[in-house]
Amino acid sequence: MRFPNSFLDELRDRVPISQVVGTRVTFDRKKTNASRGDYWACCPFHGENTPSFHCEDRKGRYHCFGCGVSGDHFRFLSELDGISFPEAVERVADMAGVPMPQRDPQAERREQERASLSDVMEMATGFFQSMLQEQQGAEARAYLRGRGLSSATQQAFRIGYAPSSRNALKEYLAGKGVTKDQIEACGLVVFGPDIPVSYDRFRDRIMFPIEDARGRVIAFGGRAMSKDVPAKYLNSPDTELFHKGTVLYNLARARRSAVKGEPVIAVEGYMDVIGLAQAGFENAVAPLGTALTENQLDLLWRMSGEPVLCFDGDEAGLRAAWRAADIALPLVQPGRSLRFALLPQGKDPDDLVREEGPDAFAAVLAGARPLADMLWMRETSGKVFDTPERRAELERNLQALTARIGDENLKRHYSQDMRERARAFFGGNQAQRGGGRGFREGGIGGGIGGRNRGFGGRPGGASGRLAVSESLARSALVRSSSPTMPLREATLLVSLVNHPPLIDEYFDALDQMLLASAELGRLRMAILDAVAHNPAHDREVLLRKIEADGLLPIWQQAETRVKSAYMWPALENAALDDAREAFAQTLHLHRRAGSLHKELKAAELALANDWNEEDARHLVEIQAELSNLQATEALIEGFGILSGRANRS
Ligand code: UTP
Ligand code: MN
Repeated sequence: MRFPNSFLDELRDRVPISQVVGTRVTFDRKKTNASRGDYWACCPFHGENTPSFHCEDRKGRYHCFGCGVSGDHFRFLSELDGISFPEAVERVADMAGVPMPQRDPQAERREQERASLSDVMEMATGFFQSMLQEQQGAEARAYLRGRGLSSATQQAFRIGYAPSSRNALKEYLAGKGVTKDQIEACGLVVFGPDIPVSYDRFRDRIMFPIEDARGRVIAFGGRAMSKDVPAKYLNSPDTELFHKGTVLYNLARARRSAVKGEPVIAVEGYMDVIGLAQAGFENAVAPLGTALTENQLDLLWRMSGEPVLCFDGDEAGLRAAWRAADIALPLVQPGRSLRFALLPQGKDPDDLVREEGPDAFAAVLAGARPLADMLWMRETSGKVFDTPERRAELERNLQALTARIGDENLKRHYSQDMRERARAFFGGNQAQRGGGRGFREGGIGGGIGGRNRGFGGRPGGASGRLAVSESLARSALVRSSSPTMPLREATLLVSLVNHPPLIDEYFDALDQMLLASAELGRLRMAILDAVAHNPAHDREVLLRKIEADGLLPIWQQAETRVKSAYMWPALENAALDDAREAFAQTLHLHRRAGSLHKELKAAELALANDWNEEDARHLVEIQAELSNLQATEALIEGFGILSGRANRS
């Protein structure tokens, strides 16, 4: 019987070839690199003592460098065991746990048709590619150049141009013997009962071929270059070959780099995938203009256990992230989850790498948050839990959420995690303060759950779980790309001026504080100076001194920075106790960051002089701790919003 290619593909996709080969040979320990899917053994087809038989999961093929045999899963079994091809297929299907297809003449015919449609799509791709190089493609070439796409990138993604004509493609294909039915079945023309003459669907557009998991073109996305066209992108309709919700753009290429152990990244657009690839991130995929489907999540998970979903840092992006979290929740398992990364507002990944380089995107990736954080943020963001009813409601919502997890074991862990977050968030407060004083204790000391590992000496005693506002959810995820006055330093100085008794208590700390901002350094000098000459200092005196030194603009800038980050305990109206506590905690973070930076420099220097594994590991640890600290800071930046509101209400 003839098997549909899609069925054989599925088997080859599901069962690594090493698993098939491994039933007949023992892999060589030394030469094999299992994490790269690279296996070596003594060849079972000819006698040998040193391994020259190689199989590679990535390619799904084996090859013997000794006797020259090679093939795929089925060939291996049929040739080695002397069984027929269908029997070999049956064995692999067994391993995959996939039922054998029923013989179905209709399905077989459809399979043949699909194969021919695939050829037609290939011809169309070639046509669009060559049009891009013709005179008619001049404007398109200029457009692509203007967007910074190198010709290597254009070729890798097989980008083309559909000329401004109603029948150029149609006639080209007809000239190659392609039938009208086939052209229609490929979705390449617009046709229908009330359309007398079908015409090319894509006209005057940049063409992005969309490939299936094996790298065959199954659809196109066409981008308009002029602004007055109604749809910026026009995509192929669903066809025999193409089902929008089950395809990810760039899947085949991304899988190639996922094999090297990099997590797959899901972004929103074609251009993002392409821009990232050019910047060195070849592991990005995109859905085709719709929200991620379950099916697409499955595709991601086949490539990596923890794909990173990347969203725009605006309201809509956050909503999209939450929608994805919702779809994922019933499907997550141990070793099969998601991370979320939000971009600086108003920039897509393509903009980001083009304007700020690959490092900027790497930083976004490094800030990616686990699913559990995302859920906690959504349930708590922008809300105040100042009554038992509201707290009970939160608890109920969290329970309902975790109940949606399918995997029992993971469900248990999630509900424990959420309970702990809630306890730290409410409990820490009440135990220490008898409530009523806002809800900041939980957050100020630590990172978001799971990231506060290794952060020593957390103040406040709470375990560091914070409910955050929506804007914080963003700020914690999005690293601001424009340099502003460092918030932590501004907060420290503003606190002192607004609460002068603290200056005495922290005089030495102020004196020795590392300040990256030279302007704040001058402000500090003014403060130290004022205190030295006037023991009975108060806020007004300090401000007059600041003014006299010509530092009023700097002071105002610092205060604005603090206000816009809602660091209310640093402001004039805050109670001294609150100000003191916040100051102490901020100072602690500041010192920790300072010494980490020093350690980092030292470790880098040590490595530059003499590379060794121990220092390298140390360096990585320091970097990890620094990024934890940054996450903590981002949280602190928002904690005032919540507590501020709680105060007002
Ligand atoms: P974007 O508008 O973010 O497009 O839409 P982009 O990929 O960044 O492209 P440039 O940078 O503007 O050239 C994201 C994705 O949504 C789908 C496409 O798949 C696009 O890549 N889309 C967008 C459509 O299908 N139709 C549209 O009209 C717009
Ligand atoms: Mn874009």
